[in-house]
Amino acid sequence: MPPLPARDLPRRRGDSSTRTGRLMDEQTERYLSVARQAALQAGELIRRKAGTSFQVDHKGRINLVTEVDTACEALIRHALLEAFPEHRILGEEGGPTGGSHACRWLVDPLDGTTNFAQGYPFYAVSIGLEIAGEMAVGVVHDPTRQETFHAVRGGGAWMNGQPIRVTDCEKLQQALLVTGFPYDLSLAPDLHLDLFRDFVLAARGVRRDGAAALDLCYVACGRFDAYWELGLSPWDMAAGSLILREAGGMLSDFEGRVLSLEGRDMLASNGRLHPAMLEGIRPHLPALRTSCYRKS
Ligand code: IPD
Ligand code: CA
Ligand code: CA
Repeated sequence: MPPLPARDLPRRRGDSSTRTGRLMDEQTERYLSVARQAALQAGELIRRKAGTSFQVDHKGRINLVTEVDTACEALIRHALLEAFPEHRILGEEGGPTGGSHACRWLVDPLDGTTNFAQGYPFYAVSIGLEIAGEMAVGVVHDPTRQETFHAVRGGGAWMNGQPIRVTDCEKLQQALLVTGFPYDLSLAPDLHLDLFRDFVLAARGVRRDGAAALDLCYVACGRFDAYWELGLSPWDMAAGSLILREAGGMLSDFEGRVLSLEGRDMLASNGRLHPAMLEGIRPHLPALRTSCYRKS
């Protein structure tokens, strides 16, 4: 990968202020502004189409894709490439664009497709920018509640212009957790269900809402205390992981190692619960290590 041009390097403190009152350099402000604009436009398209009849196809046995997923991805790709023609994009529906630029956008045009297709109003647009392998900008927009979460590295996490923060819950017994299940869960049903059973028994409650990017943002703003999922893809985790980290949360894989967007398992928490969550996962590590999620 060629060296990063100076203009692409995000700075922790910059020289211009934003609507949020935080300081940010001009280039980062532009990345954020283009991402936010694209997320809002895609969100508007999703809002208009919700409840109407739209085409739904199968990508797999239970994995749906609607014409709205593809239309939103096309809209977002167009907006990003118009502003930053040399950048790379990895989108759920369009795959990766080539090139070796240090800036890579990770796009989930409609996170929560099953919910959307069913008329269950929990879905979002997720757009993240990774620079030289580190998340630099993240935007997650929920068109139903008109809630827009965003973060830039070193600049805190925000929802609709207000700062957000994780909870200070320390005990699993007092925690509200969230999880999700991948479309290929039938490849390792016991692993998914055993983890679920253990956390249902240990926590105050467990929810399964069906949109990974929003699940992460809900931990970031204190609506949940922790989130685990096995079988995720980079576009599910990218933007939300930065938002959670900037809200004071902690991220790792199931073994407590640095989270990799290319890995399939993610533990996200308010930080204080992280050791207890890892402890809960530990008995399942032998099954995880021999599962399809670690073999490839
Ligand atoms: C899915 C959702 C779901 C999660 C799955 C994801 P999609 O994304 O985020 O909550 O459990 O693992 O694939 O297909 O709706 O974009
Ligand atoms: Ca997704
Ligand atoms: Ca999606």
